Formats: sequence, structure tokens, C-alpha cells
Amino acid sequence: MRLDIVTIFPEYLEPLNVSLVGKARARGLLDVRVHDLRRWTHDRHNTVDDTPYGGGPGMVMKPEPWGEALDEIIASGEGDPVLVVPTPSGRPFDQATAVELAEKPWLVFTPARYEGIDRRVIDEYGERLQVRELSIGDYVLAGGEAPVLVMVEAVARLLPGVLGNAESHRDDSFAPGAMADLLEGPVYTKPPLWRGRDVPEVLLSGHHGRIARWRRDEAFRRTARYRPDLIERCDPAALDADDRKL
Ligand code: ADE
Repeated sequence: MRLDIVTIFPEYLEPLNVSLVGKARARGLLDVRVHDLRRWTHDRHNTVDDTPYGGGPGMVMKPEPWGEALDEIIASGEGDPVLVVPTPSGRPFDQATAVELAEKPWLVFTPARYEGIDRRVIDEYGERLQVRELSIGDYVLAGGEAPVLVMVEAVARLLPGVLGNAESHRDDSFAPGAMADLLEGPVYTKPPLWRGRDVPEVLLSGHHGRIARWRRDEAFRRTARYRPDLIERCDPAALDADDRKL
């Protein structure tokens, strides 16, 4: 998979050299290219922003550098990328979106600073490409770079060969399947006794049916506590079917 990221803070994307994503790049599973938007400016001050039409606070990113950057990047590859525009006014980015994006061969991210990018840029490329305007949550960050880090990691770990254990995202919170729509419950490792605290006895029992049932109950408890909205979305028939498997 190829990822292009256009930003005025290329150094903000340095974490993409580390850990899971860094390893995936080193192994050739991910081709990540970070571009400095100011490369496509032509004035002495490398200006990327200007005051908003209609007035109001803050600055808006000018369309010309984005247009030149995106034209050049799009022309540099085969086929069309999907354009991912991080914005607090986008659709919520969730696990289903990550799964969908992980199936695409090429994503171009346009993290903005200030009050965002001149709307005409998104409209222009929306006529030629698939464009996803995505928010990582109901809060406002100073720019789209941190959301890009979030989305790239969520997507990269779904790519074949990236996770050490191919099974390890099967039971994730939000993963489709048996525990769909439930949060993951607690996990434990050795030693069995730490500062007077035991590991729940069932986990040491070796009884797979009882362990699966316990995990499901814990997932329910946690979800009811922190995300009751998710319980309401559960399909009772799917839960009953799960129950019969336990
Ligand atoms: N840019 C600023 N805040 C954001 C958010 N919550 N999601 C995506 N992009 C953003």
C-alpha cells in the first residue's frame, strides 16, 4: 500500500518510522511518502494561508499550493488514490472505515492547520477521486497531523503480514465477528499472584468454554459501564448464536 501525506510539518510524521508502521515500511509492506506543502509555494515567505473571505478568526489554507501538490502526487502513480481529508467536521473514523481504507492500494492524506483548506480544493478533487472527510473524534486538534498518525496506524495494522500474529486483531474491540460491538475486557499475564492480587481463577482453568464465556461477560460489563450506546446496537440474535457456541 502506498501512502502520501502532504503537510507543513513533515517532522510531525516522524513517528511513522517507529514500531509497527516503521517495521511495515522497512519490510516493504508500506510505501509512505511525506511531502512538505511549502515545496509548492512560489513566494519569498512560502505562504500557505490567508484570511478567510467573509471575515472571522483564524486563517484558511490557500488552494494553489494544495492543487499543485496534489496534481503532482496524483500524476506520480498508477491509477487514482483515495483522498483522505482529516477534519473535525468529517464523518467519524471508525474500525469499519479503517477496514475499508486498508483495502485501497493508495491513500493521499491532506492534514490541514489553521481553520482548514479552501473548500474548492476538496470540491475539485471530489470530482476526480474518492474523497473521505474524516474526524477522529468530537474534539478539535490544532491540525490534522495527529489524526493522520491515528488513521495510518489503524489501517496499517490491518494489512496482511503487518501484525506478527495474523489472529491478533480478530477479537479487538470493534472488530467484526463474535464479539462485535463490545469492548474488550481485562487481560492478565504471569505471575499468577502480584501484590496480593490473583488472576481470575477461570483463566487458569484450561477450560476453553468457561474462559470464552467469562471473557464475553467481562466484555459486556465493561461495555455497559463505558459505552452503553454500543449495547443498544448489539443484535440479540447474534449474541444468542454466540451463546450456543460457548
Ligand atoms: N483536525 C482537527 N481536529 C480533528 C479531528 N478531531 N479529527 C480529524 N481532523 C482534525
